[in-house]
Amino acid sequence: MKKFGLIEYPKKESLSYKVFNSYFKAANIKATYEDIVIEPSEFDNKIQNYIQNYDGLNITVPFKEVVIKYIDIIEDAKEINAVNCIYKNKGYNTDWKGFYYSLKFPLVEPILLIGAGGASKSIVYALYKKGVKEIYLTNRTKEKAEKLKKFFSDKIEIKVEPFENLKSIVRGSKTLINATSIGMFQESFYLDENDLLNLSLIYDIVYNHTPLQKTAQKLKINCLDGKSFWFYQAVENLKIWDIYNEEIFNNVFKKVVRGE
Ligand code: ATR
Repeated sequence: MKKFGLIEYPKKESLSYKVFNSYFKAANIKATYEDIVIEPSEFDNKIQNYIQNYDGLNITVPFKEVVIKYIDIIEDAKEINAVNCIYKNKGYNTDWKGFYYSLKFPLVEPILLIGAGGASKSIVYALYKKGVKEIYLTNRTKEKAEKLKKFFSDKIEIKVEPFENLKSIVRGSKTLINATSIGMFQESFYLDENDLLNLSLIYDIVYNHTPLQKTAQKLKINCLDGKSFWFYQAVENLKIWDIYNEEIFNNVFKKVVRGE
């Protein structure tokens, strides 16, 4: 029996647990996928044991950076300075690929990214890989936006805008990416439908069907959600772990996540 798992703290409702276990069953792969919760104070003691004894791991908040010192990291993970997938002692970043490959609609500029946390890092890197030269970034805590700007200063120009100006910068944008958790509990941005009319794409990385996604649908604006992001990074994980079957995984995802 092979063992896979997601290292996290605190415990969250994870799509990974649900979908990967269903996939293993459907694909007749003898494996389990666990949610592994580690207290941050215990991380240094425990992580090596998991790296040695599991056939593949995912790493999420808040461990994507601290895990780096225990493995060899490959080029793109090094450039993002975050690892979310481990196989045979090597650390990969499949988050950015999740965003990159999920972009099935044209990426029209100007692009506005809201949020400057861990997810934003992989999104900025994916945009850079798409050939984007410049983006607008806004975040509640301005210092974090400035930090992200500095981190990627040799790759892409990031124009940091005050969070209070959200309305006007959205109005001037063609692509809006929400990389904050706003909407997870049905909260809305301080935006009216009129502010969104100019947009050609809304990418909202929240898993739930948020008010922003509902408005996008109503206004017939192309919309991508956190589940698409998750799907494509999951495909990359399965490829790295050498257990990917495209047809079966597509079917499981449609059934378990999309309810189709
Ligand atoms: P993740 O790894 O999912 O990106 P994170 O690193 O905790 O998680 O980042 C969360 C992002 O959501 C941050 O940009 C955060 O803004 P701050 O940097 O100001 O904390 C943003 N965020 C969360 N709740 C928010 C809220 N109520 N209003 C505005 N921004 C919010």
